[in-house]
Amino acid sequence: MKKPLIIILSFIFFTSLFACKSQFNAAKEIKKAEQQTLLMLQEIEKAKKQSKEGAQLVSPRTLVDGNLKLVASKDWTSGFFPGELWYLYQLTNKEKWKQEAMLFTKLIEQEKYNGKTHDMGFKIYGSFGAGFKLTNDKEYKEVIIQSAKTLSTRFNPKVGAIRSWDHNSDKWDFPVIIDNMMNLELLFEATLLTGDSSFYKIAVAHANTTMKHHFRGDYSTWHVIDYNPENGEVEHKQTHQGLSDESSWSRGQAWALYGYTMCYRYTKDIAYLKQAENVARFIFTHKNMPKDLIPYWDFDAPNIPDEPRDVSAATVIASALYELAAYSEKKAAYLTKYNTILTNVAKKYTSEPGKNKGFILDHSTGSKPVNSEVDVPLSYADYYYLEAISRKFKSKSK
Ligand code: GLY
Repeated sequence: MKKPLIIILSFIFFTSLFACKSQFNAAKEIKKAEQQTLLMLQEIEKAKKQSKEGAQLVSPRTLVDGNLKLVASKDWTSGFFPGELWYLYQLTNKEKWKQEAMLFTKLIEQEKYNGKTHDMGFKIYGSFGAGFKLTNDKEYKEVIIQSAKTLSTRFNPKVGAIRSWDHNSDKWDFPVIIDNMMNLELLFEATLLTGDSSFYKIAVAHANTTMKHHFRGDYSTWHVIDYNPENGEVEHKQTHQGLSDESSWSRGQAWALYGYTMCYRYTKDIAYLKQAENVARFIFTHKNMPKDLIPYWDFDAPNIPDEPRDVSAATVIASALYELAAYSEKKAAYLTKYNTILTNVAKKYTSEPGKNKGFILDHSTGSKPVNSEVDVPLSYADYYYLEAISRKFKSKSK
């Protein structure tokens, strides 16, 4: 064989070998996730027994000083662990995961009447919604519908949005956070389940109001927009978990990407697709996005590269990108990034087997400004990781 040909063939061989190696190994990672979750089930039992409020605590949220922190159903993160169990069932088809998912899902049913928070989508759609997609259980359907009714009570037609928080009423009159986009999936589904278009209309109004006021010219998003509830005028544009009012908090950008991608799924409104693509462009062209595509906790954090990462932002982005790829002309680029994120999460940001009380991933950041949950496991990082995997590798769906 001629020398140049040998060189070319060797080049092709080694680059394809490298490409194979950098592919996400779903089977291996699902197995690891199952092993960690088995450990988590044991740790939950132990933590419940050790706590005075054990009976009220339903789901794991994070580690505090190495100890498992469980939360009550009213916590915004309570639905993620049941959702993880549903995704494991979807990915493995094992009855064990279905039984566990049913048990943990049931524990948060009372939230369907909790109108004091906007986090209904996270709690109920992440758990009952995930379960309904796999089982068609009529009781789950009723919980989803009731939850959508309760969430709708927080909608203000003058503002055209759902109120996020009731706390800090001395600071804000009608705060709406970008995270709230994630609750719209529950409303869109409730319209599909009932034929009642009022949920759909609220979701669309909220998405449009948010598109109008939450985004800067470069398609980065503010975290909190405070409105005047009497006339809908914007009173403040601020942050709560980001570095500063004008910075770009990473998980907020992730919620925006996911939120508008999901809104396009239900409405086919091209404006939402464009919005999601523009947010993706902001995220992936930012000078502070690391090569491995796992963002620092805020794109403007002052000491990059010596700043904590937020793996939860990365897994939300990965899950959103997989869906966005199905709608966009930039499909190939988005799928490449999806694969890069999952590959790097698996390679560098997973818990050591048997450690971290059974959390699958490590190195997420909840709220850096108040030094809470910095560089730790978080249940929602695990949830969106399994969702991102299941979107491509699912073996079971409705
Ligand atoms: N929804 C709260 C958070 O993203 O931290």
